Amino acid sequence: MTPEVLVYPDRPALIEAALALIIERILTAINERQSCTIALSGGSTPQPLYAALAGADLPWQQIQIFWGDERYVAATDPDSNYGMTKRVWLDLVPIPAANIHPMPTGLAQPQLAADDYDRQIVAHFGSEAGSIPVFDIILLGMGDDGHTASLFPHTAALSVRDRLVTLGDKDGQPRLTLTFPIINQARSVIFLISGASKQTALAEIFSPTGDPTAYPSRGVAPQGELLWLLDAAAGEKLKSEGD
Ligand code: 6PG
Repeated sequence: MTPEVLVYPDRPALIEAALALIIERILTAINERQSCTIALSGGSTPQPLYAALAGADLPWQQIQIFWGDERYVAATDPDSNYGMTKRVWLDLVPIPAANIHPMPTGLAQPQLAADDYDRQIVAHFGSEAGSIPVFDIILLGMGDDGHTASLFPHTAALSVRDRLVTLGDKDGQPRLTLTFPIINQARSVIFLISGASKQTALAEIFSPTGDPTAYPSRGVAPQGELLWLLDAAAGEKLKSEGD
């Protein structure tokens, strides 16, 4: 499907719009399949969105929460994506603990953790061998360098095609990340991007030609919907001439 770019005047408007769009897609998934599987992004941008979701009246029993990537730290670490989401959202809603699937970060070897989460996803979706599970929603952020999830520029994770979860590498720091094959299998992929520091990477990503290993977000091309939700500060350079 053709990507859709939606630019909002400021960050509060971006979060308000993202909240409505995500709730709509959660309810559609539940209406159609009695369940919604969503993989969350980390970082700072989605925090107000997650806080707003804590106030939403949703059928939490039918929502399954996964993560798109995770820093390899304990849940109590300030850098933990799971820890942040739990604090601002999941601890505040009546979602069953069994519906929350954090990436394991307590194993001695991060690769074993990646393999474990791969198995958890396959088990949850009951996927046939060789088929790729289909998330209803995958929420993504984008770094100033154009990375998404923990798919960083010029790293081995970008070329992994035979796993659902692999090791990311942020300047030598281990990460766990979904791979392009499972991201691109999703029914709906939604980027949530805010701030002027994202302008350059967005211009590269939306240019007609470009190196996806330098700007990994270029590699996101789902079989389903792709929404780019930006505030004006981030989307400045995407405006066509004369806007
Ligand atoms: C992470 C994220 C990562 C994030 C971008 C943008 O674990 O950090 O999943 O991909 O979305 O780095 O981060 P900000 O929202 O903080 O700019």
